[in-house]
Amino acid sequence: MSAVVGLRVGLRSDCLGAPLTTPRVSWRVVDAAPGAAQEAAELRLEREGEVDTVALDGPGQNLIDWPFAPLRSRERTVLAVRARVAGEWTAWSEPLAVEGALYEAEAWTAPLVVPSASAPHRTRPSWLLRAAFTLAEEPVRARLYATAQGVFTASLNGAAVSDEVLAPGWTSYDHRLRYRVHDVTDLLGEGGNVLGVELADGWFRGNIGFDGGLWDVYGTHVGVLLQLEVTGADGVTRIVPLDDAWRAAPGPATSAGLYEGEAHDARMLPAGWDAPAFDASGWDRPELRPVGELAARLEPAINEPVRVIETLAPVAVEAQPSGRIRLDFGQNISGVLRIRVDAPAGHTVTLHHAEVLEDGQLGTRPLRRAVSVDSFTSAGTPTTWQPRHTIHGFRYAELEGWPGELADGDVVAAVIHTDMERRGWFACSDPLLERLHENVVWSMRDNFVDLPTDCPQRDERLGWTGDIQVFAPAAEFLYGADGVLASWLRDVAAQQGPDGWVPNFVPWLECGFPSGASAAWGDAAVVVPWTMWERRGNRGILERQWSSMTAWVDHLALRIGPDDVVEGSMELGDWLDPAAPPEDPGAARTDRYLVASAYAVRSARLVARAAAVLGRPADRDRYDAFADRVLAGMRRRWLDDLDGLAHAPTGLALVVAFELARDEAERQRAGDLLSTAVRDGGHRVQTGFVGTPIICDALASTGHLEDAYALLTQTECPSWLYPVTMGATTIWERWDSMLPDGSINPGDMTSFNHYALGAVVDFLHRVVAGLAPAAPGYREVAIRPSPGGGLTWASARHLSPYGEIAVAWRVVGDELSLDVELPVGVTGTVTLPDGTTETIAAGSHTFRGAAGAAREETLR
Ligand code: BGC
Repeated sequence: MSAVVGLRVGLRSDCLGAPLTTPRVSWRVVDAAPGAAQEAAELRLEREGEVDTVALDGPGQNLIDWPFAPLRSRERTVLAVRARVAGEWTAWSEPLAVEGALYEAEAWTAPLVVPSASAPHRTRPSWLLRAAFTLAEEPVRARLYATAQGVFTASLNGAAVSDEVLAPGWTSYDHRLRYRVHDVTDLLGEGGNVLGVELADGWFRGNIGFDGGLWDVYGTHVGVLLQLEVTGADGVTRIVPLDDAWRAAPGPATSAGLYEGEAHDARMLPAGWDAPAFDASGWDRPELRPVGELAARLEPAINEPVRVIETLAPVAVEAQPSGRIRLDFGQNISGVLRIRVDAPAGHTVTLHHAEVLEDGQLGTRPLRRAVSVDSFTSAGTPTTWQPRHTIHGFRYAELEGWPGELADGDVVAAVIHTDMERRGWFACSDPLLERLHENVVWSMRDNFVDLPTDCPQRDERLGWTGDIQVFAPAAEFLYGADGVLASWLRDVAAQQGPDGWVPNFVPWLECGFPSGASAAWGDAAVVVPWTMWERRGNRGILERQWSSMTAWVDHLALRIGPDDVVEGSMELGDWLDPAAPPEDPGAARTDRYLVASAYAVRSARLVARAAAVLGRPADRDRYDAFADRVLAGMRRRWLDDLDGLAHAPTGLALVVAFELARDEAERQRAGDLLSTAVRDGGHRVQTGFVGTPIICDALASTGHLEDAYALLTQTECPSWLYPVTMGATTIWERWDSMLPDGSINPGDMTSFNHYALGAVVDFLHRVVAGLAPAAPGYREVAIRPSPGGGLTWASARHLSPYGEIAVAWRVVGDELSLDVELPVGVTGTVTLPDGTTETIAAGSHTFRGAAGAAREETLR
């Protein structure tokens, strides 16, 4: 019997504080007969005792427009869905409680509570805040609407109100500050209660950015904004008046910085400070600032929170001659240590972190100014402690001053990132490729800490646009990244200059990097929303980002010189081409203006396609015309003589992958020249940020699949697998972040955890395993396995908006067998290596065919 499962609204999995008054609704249909499809659906909403039912015809089950009257602030509703499949209605789904957030600025009346209006420019202490209050009755329902200027944790009567870490995360606070809604009903009681907070600088006023970074970027103060609302037995909801109740005292973190680390002195944490009985008469009254114009910048979070996702025990523990104890967690992560210490009062344990070892020591040089040292000073009682206001990128840690023997379980590493749903898997017969894939998964996890960043360890951790521009398709396959990306894209739009200029990283900081927007970086404004449409069928993101997308392409028009190509702008080009010297990563083989012009064509074409999706034919024609104009300029300048690009693999790959060729023959010629260049280079990587994500596609789609495999399975440096052979557990920033002799690349910019070059996993999913979207949201899929490279089997699974799609192939002798699983709502076209094609619907399918036929047709 089929059933409706996975009901959700919007992009988050919980629906408390729904981000939109008209959130979009999604569900999946499971356990249907083979070939079945949803014929109709009914959505039922209960609100204020009334039930409203809406019938929808057809197979739509992904991001369906809210068919009811908009949600009101704080409104509580219950949603359920059922579907008609093969003439029969399913049962109603599990009901989903959907509750409105605060949609009007006037709904906010609580003040910003400011314990510290300024502080000297150095790592600063945390603050404790408490507000004691009395409730006449145990509430029927209670909500805490919570955010901060700084980073904070909150408790009620000593119990944490949530397990979120580093709340409220980082946005361009001058434009947007996100809050979350917590159900705190069970934490409150009749009589005395207390709301407790620990607050530190975070991104708001702590040191962020490179080259020394900046302090006080968003303000000189820190503050929390907490509105506590209780509903009594009379059904009336009241805001608990806390203004006179707030008290503040210096917190136990004697210094805390995201880069620097946290020093915690447990003696500074007064026993019972967060319980009602505590005497806070010695504490100060913090400043109360009316919420004022800040209310207009508040918005309910659209992404999942950052949490401790798992903990890792050390795989090796080794006493050092220095007296320190070294721990190897076997995996490069973003997170912190959690320690269990029993030491005399005043005793300090210091925790050092690094991604790699060099010369038998922690390799901390790549951290640059991100000191990444935490310390814990004991109050004399056994304590489990984990820093709250900092985060590090590390695999190794050293404990200095550990009291006595280290027992099992005394120290674990807490892995911290946005709590996204895992959605994609890949496996194959080559363990090195599997490890490469696993490394990409980890680099994604480590860099999706609330926003998509470049790296988790050094003094950056910035939302570099180019990195996510190339990685977005991989991200969308592997995890439910939509919330993180949608939130970040709002900042991209908010920070675009008046002429459409997109900062090279977002949130943007003026910390010395040239402010000119670079191609492949600024194009994130177009490519990321387009990818979300392509991979998740998210049309709403195209609507929402439309003005940002078009503003960027309109901006590109300003960069076109008299010859109709991009010229004269600041360009990062094919960043980190291995031919570029360590100190000049933009000095690539391929002309940076060719790269910029190719991206101008690409973004204009994507905006034209988005215009078509959104029903804007005039815009479609306008952006196509702009693409044609730049393409014509590119032909005159570079493409009429393709031989001139023979030394520039990225240029050739762009011709193929970005559809820059005049006709099929020219495209094939570019592919052939690329194959020659790749062979001449001994199948080692000769591309940077721009060429690397597309080169395997460019080869495979022009009949050079074996060259793509030879590149993929190369283990000599530079190659994807070289780091794997060096023991990497994440993707490195540079092909040779660690040199073959085990020393760290001398370049000042060397990280061991950058996902950008890992974008190639999208090729593993789409081409090697053969699971590619053929219509938005995987409504149609192209199943096309690509045996080769000595692989005997490969498989991929993806939790699409409609359910799980699974593809697995195996070669035995000359025969290929293929198993495919499609969920309700998805149809597929299967193409075997021998060219036979078949169309399939939901259900399980098995195919057999010849394994080794040459692939002449294009694979797009
Ligand atoms: C970042 C990159 C980024 C680049 C561009 C680096 O410092 O880590 O990943 O895209 O700068 O300049």
